[in-house]
Amino acid sequence: MPSRRLVLERFPLLPPAEVLSNIVDFSRMVSANLGDSDLTRILYDGLRAMLPGRLVAVRVLDAKTHLVSAVLADAPLVQEALTMPATIPRGALDHQNVLDNLPKTTNEAGESELPSYIRLVDEHPLIFKDAVAGFAVPLLAGGHMMGEVHVNYSTVDGASDGGRPWFPIKPDQGLVIPVANHLAVVAHTRRLLRETSYLQEYLEQIVDQANALIVATDMQGRVTVWNRALHRLTGFSRWDASGQDLSVWFKSLGTPQLPLVMRQAAASGDTVTREMKLPSAGGAVIRAAFNVVIVKSGQLPAAILAVGQDVTAMRALQGQVIHAEKLATLGQIAAGVAHEINNPLTSIQVCAEAVSRKAKLAIEGRVPNVFEPADVDRLTKITEGSERIRRFAKDLVTYARPSSDDNQQFALNDVVSHGLSFCEHVLDEARARVETDFHPDLPELTAIRDQILQVAINLITNAAQSLPPAGGQVRVRTWRRGNAAVGLAVSDTGRGIKDADRPHLFEPFFTTKAPGRGTGLGLSIVRNIVFSHGGQITFQSRQGGGTTFVVTLPLARGESEPDLLQDDESN
Ligand SMILES: Nc1ncnc2c1ncn2[C@@H]1O[C@H](COP(=O)(O)OP(=O)(O)O)[C@@H](O)[C@H]1O
Ligand SMILES: [Mg+2]
Repeated sequence: MPSRRLVLERFPLLPPAEVLSNIVDFSRMVSANLGDSDLTRILYDGLRAMLPGRLVAVRVLDAKTHLVSAVLADAPLVQEALTMPATIPRGALDHQNVLDNLPKTTNEAGESELPSYIRLVDEHPLIFKDAVAGFAVPLLAGGHMMGEVHVNYSTVDGASDGGRPWFPIKPDQGLVIPVANHLAVVAHTRRLLRETSYLQEYLEQIVDQANALIVATDMQGRVTVWNRALHRLTGFSRWDASGQDLSVWFKSLGTPQLPLVMRQAAASGDTVTREMKLPSAGGAVIRAAFNVVIVKSGQLPAAILAVGQDVTAMRALQGQVIHAEKLATLGQIAAGVAHEINNPLTSIQVCAEAVSRKAKLAIEGRVPNVFEPADVDRLTKITEGSERIRRFAKDLVTYARPSSDDNQQFALNDVVSHGLSFCEHVLDEARARVETDFHPDLPELTAIRDQILQVAINLITNAAQSLPPAGGQVRVRTWRRGNAAVGLAVSDTGRGIKDADRPHLFEPFFTTKAPGRGTGLGLSIVRNIVFSHGGQITFQSRQGGGTTFVVTLPLARGESEPDLLQDDESN
């Protein structure tokens, strides 16, 4: 076959050893650290070394527009070489490898189809002006088409024996396809690596710049993430925090709650939400509310992530509002102070006068110097009266003081009785018949005593103020629900609540009372206090048929009371 021999003289096949050493060279040079243009240059040079005499071109497509962005070739090209789309011969679609790597889009009917920048062809178009035959191999990997390798052949004098000229297409393809695939995979890996590290940096920046407190630890509790917001708030930088065992570190700073909650979330696998104290480099008390979640990698828990908000300022403001409301309620109660003080003072005065008149006469020798039983009575009344005034004054002062936010253990019944005695005058003035039904065996409550007193006083005052001028009944009841919760109900036979008012009852400043009598803050604060103790408040009312407010308070720590967390190690 003379033509085949002539063709092979013009387009020699390199001996296998030489091909192998070329491929080894090629592989050594190709690395994911190189840029796209370096990679295509190495591919082009490599192919030209392995395919002497052939016309070799590499067309590179832009990653976004898929238009031809560069062509490497060293012979004149047809004009369309720069504009024609990438091509895939129909026959190639029989290869699963090609199908898997082809980019895909979905059409309007929802079917998967080839994107418009790839054209299906029966035969590859030739891209060299002098070419009479040739083929192309796409640079395809992972659904990305980064370009095409073209190998074309020009005519060989005397090689035609009348039929179609023969060219070493098959053996050349056997060489170009694996080399092109290798390069496409490397380029694709490089792109993925770049995207991953970009994403990682992007995420790190989001976390660091976020307007939220973000801390993460590995499953052993060592700090891996500590963002800028936390640095600003606590004064501890990322470098102070990184790698620290959060439990040990926070415990040494006197704020063990966050790592405890994080461990709790890790143990339960659930999201945990808590408010807690945070350490601060400057020593200030910082409160933050955190959401703690477990971040999984595949099936396995990989990190514990806590995202929080600084609530220090909000808590301080809430404290101020609670205090302001207390002073307003105090104003109402103080209206009764004159009355409260007048009664015992009158008896003190009368009794003291009687005893002192008698003592004077006795000293003057005008009556025998003997005390009679009535004097003991008078002195007792003096003592009682003064005691009553002293107690009342003390109560007023105590109530007016801003409440501490420390938990105490106390009996709910005592606090409710205290509230009732505080409201004695308000109840008297409203002609309320007070009935109490205290459970005789309540477990002690752990809560902020002043605040629970404020709840009782507000509910009792509201009940008294709801009664008609002729008066009515105010009933106060306490009970227990096993060892889980205690309850307080305050009922009245007052005017009840209008349907239209029901949705607004707990809103701050909602009041139906005359100015000076109501602030509209009572119930909103009652609800805040109850919620912050992890409790609940409900009411039943019928217009004209009286109202009952029901408060339940858990005995164990409430959701928002992390200070009560039992920390075995820190005790
Ligand atoms: N026991 C009750 N009976 C009838 N209405 C009540 C009762 N408790 C509260 N309300 C209604 O809820 C409103 C809001 O109560 P509150 O927040 O304590 O504010 P204030 O007592 O200062 O008006 C009251 O103005 C009243 O209309
Ligand atoms: Mg009120």
